[in-house]
Amino acid sequence: GGQLDGVVALDGPSGTGKSTVARELARRTGAGYLDTGAMYRAMTLAVLRAGVPPTDADQVIRIIRAATLRIVTDPDNPKVSLDDVDVAAEIRGAEVTSAVSAVSAVPEVRELLVREQREIIARVSAAVGGIVVEGRDIGTVVAPEARLKVYLTASADTRAQRRSTQDTAAGRSADLAATRADVQRRDQLDSTRASSPLRAAEDALVLDTTELDVAGVLAELTELIESRGMVN
Ligand code: DC
Repeated sequence: GGQLDGVVALDGPSGTGKSTVARELARRTGAGYLDTGAMYRAMTLAVLRAGVPPTDADQVIRIIRAATLRIVTDPDNPKVSLDDVDVAAEIRGAEVTSAVSAVSAVPEVRELLVREQREIIARVSAAVGGIVVEGRDIGTVVAPEARLKVYLTASADTRAQRRSTQDTAAGRSADLAATRADVQRRDQLDSTRASSPLRAAEDALVLDTTELDVAGVLAELTELIESRGMVN
């Protein structure tokens, strides 16, 4: 494989395999990798640590303005830290997962993080030429100029199953019924919020991953970037 040129926007709900394929695609093409969900999660952790209710927008804004978030876009070693402490494991826990939709629905939170995401995309693009960005609003809001936009979907059962397998592998308890309910609740909140809801951009390619494994999705994406002349 060659070097990625340009921005690849990968959006979709949880459990579609976005993170795994985004990171691997970046790794194979020498590109940067930006997990925007990790940024919303880290800010949510800051809110919870401060003892602020995630639904209290004014307090949430105060906390996130004061927090220092750092994210490393190397796909071989992605990192996220809050006030200079690594929080990679903690942001995947159940507490953050259940509060993150409320925090990410606050327009000022999105404004602040979208600005940071655009800065990161510009900086990494200038440095290495390409970046794979995953989230919910990358193709619609963060990087509407992306040369390739893919919206990943999968059936609710498949997504719950994948999330639960991931949780088990990471040593977190994972009751399938509870995971399924949580995945659905979060998707409902993320797609109905007023401020840049989860949806496919008009010019996004929708890829249903229900019947595809990671290798299958990667093969599709590789074909797409090659056919668009995005690989040098
Ligand atoms: O991809 P993830 O599960 O780590 O994302 C966690 C939450 O962050 C998700 O439920 C909604 C929010 N999010 C968002 O609002 N916009 C993004 N671009 C990425 C994530």
